[in-house]
Parts: sequence; C-alpha cells; structure tokens
Amino acid sequence: MVSTPPLPLFGALIVAAGKGLRAGGDTPKQFRDFCGKPVIRHSAKALLDAGAAPLIVVIADGAEEDARAALAGLDGYSLVKGGATRQESVRAGLEAMAGDVPDRVLIHDAARPDLPFAVIERLLDALDHHSGAIPTLPVVDSLAVASADETMAGSASRETLRRVQTPQAFRFADILAAHRQWAGTNDAGDDAQVLAASAGSVALVQGDERLKKITFAEDLMSALTMPPMRVGQG
Ligand code: CTP
Ligand code: MG
Repeated sequence: MVSTPPLPLFGALIVAAGKGLRAGGDTPKQFRDFCGKPVIRHSAKALLDAGAAPLIVVIADGAEEDARAALAGLDGYSLVKGGATRQESVRAGLEAMAGDVPDRVLIHDAARPDLPFAVIERLLDALDHHSGAIPTLPVVDSLAVASADETMAGSASRETLRRVQTPQAFRFADILAAHRQWAGTNDAGDDAQVLAASAGSVALVQGDERLKKITFAEDLMSALTMPPMRVGQG
C-alpha cells in the first residue's frame, strides 16, 4: 500500500451568506438538495475529513437554523455572520478566525459541493513556495469580444487565460492583511485578486471540472450526471 504524507495543518472558511438570486427558489442554493444532501454539507464534510481545523462557515443573518440542519451531525465547525458582498463575508470569517488558526487557510464557496481531496493537497503543497494558490482550468472554447449590441467586436487569445475555482489557499496572515487593506473598495472577483493587489504571489494549480459552481437552478440537476463515486456518505 502506498502511504501519502500527511497534509500540513490548515483552517478553512466556507462562505455561505449569499442569497442565491440567480438560482431562484425560496431556499438559498447552498441549503438545497444536491445528490441527496444539502449543497453545503458536501464540501463541509470534505474539508473536515481532510483535517480542516478550525472550519468557519459564514452565513447570512437569520440562516442559523438552515445551516445547523444542513450540517447536522458534523463536528468541528462554527457559524459566523457574513456581509452584503462575498468579499465582506470572507473578511468576517477571517476576522473570526484570527488568533486561532494554522498558518494556512482554504477559502471555499459553499456553492461548489464536489470538492476532490487531490485539489486540497495540490493547493496546500503550493503554499510551500507562494502566499496563495488557486485551482484553475484552461479555457477550451474560442473567445469573442462582445459589443453593446451583441455583435462581435473582436476576438481574444485563450492561451494565457484560465478559469478560476475555489477553494483558494493562502498564508493566513497575508490574506487577512490583504482583505483589511482592500476593505471599502470595490467588490473583488475572488480572494486571489485581493491578495495579488497587495503583491502576494499566487500559484496556479490544476483545478477540477467537478468543482463547478452551482449558479442556476438547473445546476442542481447535474446530480443526475455525477459519477456515484463522488456521492459520499454522511
Ligand atoms: N456569498 C457570501 N456572502 C455574500 C455573497 C455571496 O458568503 N454576501 C457566497 C455564496 O453563498 C456562495 C459564494 O459566495 O457560496 C459564491 O457566490 P455566488 O455563487 O455569487 O452566490 P450568491 O451570491 O448566493 O448567488 P447570486 O449571485 O446568484 O445571488
Ligand atoms: Mg453572488
């Protein structure tokens, strides 16, 4: 049997304070069913199983009951109240973690349920040499630049572009400082952008198609095409 070296110690933050407006429905997408379990439960369990400590779950005001129900039976997480934007929610989670966190932290979208262990490993490894690491995938389609009237204004090369996923991994002190510095400016696309703005180096590691974000209601249906190996217990 091949033994794998243990992962470095890490904390994790799951942001789940969004309203899920594009997915619609009465219940925010992170608490809806995906492969027989609430969306958020999949990645919370994957992170706890990988050893995340602490695990902070950032939720909207009034969502505690939904969150507790979705995570029932899982040990080792705490709930923290989020903000009006994803970036504010991340910052609230990081502030709540400060003083009680290993050197490395993963920041993850609750809306990406299927989180392979290999991605966690790649991200934490890359932090040996960088202050951040993010999972990315190549762009395979051609790219068109759209004009205001939806005609083609030109094209763009895909060679240097990547699709960016979560979790994203950081040296805790670096990402907390970067978020404090960024606070009050415009909403950031992701946390790597916040770190890069304060000159941190961000490694691009191989992502995974399974980390696709649930955005629209039909994305919840992709459970039908998910291979059974990804439908875990618990
Ligand atoms: N998120 C958050 N706090 C916010 C906004 C978003 O914690 N104020 C979280 C979401 O819960 C989600 C992740 O950030 O897990 C990615 O955001 P997105 O997919 O945009 O989710 P929503 O903002 O909830 O969806 P929508 O934009 O369609 O309203
Ligand atoms: Mg959003």
